[in-house]
Amino acid sequence: MSKKLFIETLGCAMNSRDSEHMIAQLREKEGYETTQTLEEADLILINTCSVRERPVHKLFSELGGFNKKKKPSAKIGVCGCTASHLGEEIIKRAPYVNFVLGARNVSKISEVLHKDKAVEIDINYDESEFAFDDFRSSAYKAFINISIGCDKKCTFCIVPKTRGDEISIPDDLIINEAKRAVGKGAKELFLLGQNVNNYGRRFSSDKHEKVNFTELLRRLSKIEGLERIRFTSPHPFHMDDEFIEEFAHNPKICKSMHMPLQSGSTKVLKEMKRGYTKEWFLNRVAKLRSVCPEVSISTDIIVAFPGESDADFAETIDVMKQVKFDQIFSFKYSPRPETEAQHFTNVVDEEVASDRLSYLQSLHNEIMDEKNATLMGNVYRVYFEDLHRDGYVAGRSDNNLVLKVKGSEELLGEFRDVKVTAIGRTILTGEVVA
Ligand code: SAH
Ligand code: F3S
Repeated sequence: MSKKLFIETLGCAMNSRDSEHMIAQLREKEGYETTQTLEEADLILINTCSVRERPVHKLFSELGGFNKKKKPSAKIGVCGCTASHLGEEIIKRAPYVNFVLGARNVSKISEVLHKDKAVEIDINYDESEFAFDDFRSSAYKAFINISIGCDKKCTFCIVPKTRGDEISIPDDLIINEAKRAVGKGAKELFLLGQNVNNYGRRFSSDKHEKVNFTELLRRLSKIEGLERIRFTSPHPFHMDDEFIEEFAHNPKICKSMHMPLQSGSTKVLKEMKRGYTKEWFLNRVAKLRSVCPEVSISTDIIVAFPGESDADFAETIDVMKQVKFDQIFSFKYSPRPETEAQHFTNVVDEEVASDRLSYLQSLHNEIMDEKNATLMGNVYRVYFEDLHRDGYVAGRSDNNLVLKVKGSEELLGEFRDVKVTAIGRTILTGEVVA
């Protein structure tokens, strides 16, 4: 009988891909199969996120809960970004934890499994050419890492301290991985990196051709049987004209762009060390929309960064009103260890921060209601990938709208034209017309 692995994944898409990599290694080398039932697991992994403050005691209380419920022989491993930055402290505070594995060390999962109390958290460990075994949680969409780490030093962000310097994965490895996934039926690729459009700046050795992100997209789009390419996250600073033109004119690239704004105030952007101004951001949006009018644009916004005045926040609101984003991920600033901004003393009052966040989110809802009202009756090409329990199947349009129709698993992995018949804030209902 195979051994059982229970894995909980928190945080971003990159963590999801790291979990897939660990599952693949554990299946191939150690004979594990995944389970959803903690009590029957022989190995319990928690793949953590540290981007915003999830009180550390919450991690420890969760670990305590796992420890009570698990089989006596089961091992517990803490992985991901919190593992990178807390390291040994995790085992000191929770001595029943068997190992700690940092976000940039997932290839060592087999190794740490057999070394009690191992702590592997080297943030400059180079996994960019490691041959991971294949495992994908979706048959329809393949997540593929194109780079590891991040070279930017945004003053609010802990990621460079948990995932280390940026290294690109050689393009031939990415293309081979993509071909294998497409060969197994995935029609969509989702390319992942902290800063995808900085791709190609540094490889782990000089022997690799210096391919940039635009060229990588061109090469990937030639794969036969591949229909769609998405990626996250690009950085507004690196959105040059060549990249925007390729995005607009390459039919395989989905017309949905994530443009993390963070703040609309040039002064705050400077304090954040984002490398662009409000004007540059708006200029890139205008360029993008001029060559690709159908594009949908999503963003990340942080409110109440230290020193953000009412006037600065008004600049963010101004960008929101001008751009009318199709989706926003908005957060209150959360001070993180090992970042520059944690030492900034001009902290914004908690109540002001909450008010700003709710104002921003209600403005976004108003914008979305206005935009969504125009979608009734429109027809979109939808790629179906999710079976819902209530007799619906859902998928995404090229420009990232989520649509569901009545149907069954026959639709999974298929493209259909869908006409919108009912509007919801996060999901549209429709009927297949072709
Ligand atoms: N390049 C990555 C960024 C990872 S962090 C990407 O775009 O996926 C994801 C988002 O979390 C950031 O864009 C930012 O909006 C938010 N974030 C990061 N650090 C934060 C902090 N200290 N407080 C609040 N939000 C933060
Ligand atoms: Fe973080 Fe900025 Fe990199 S948000 S991941 S340091 S681009």
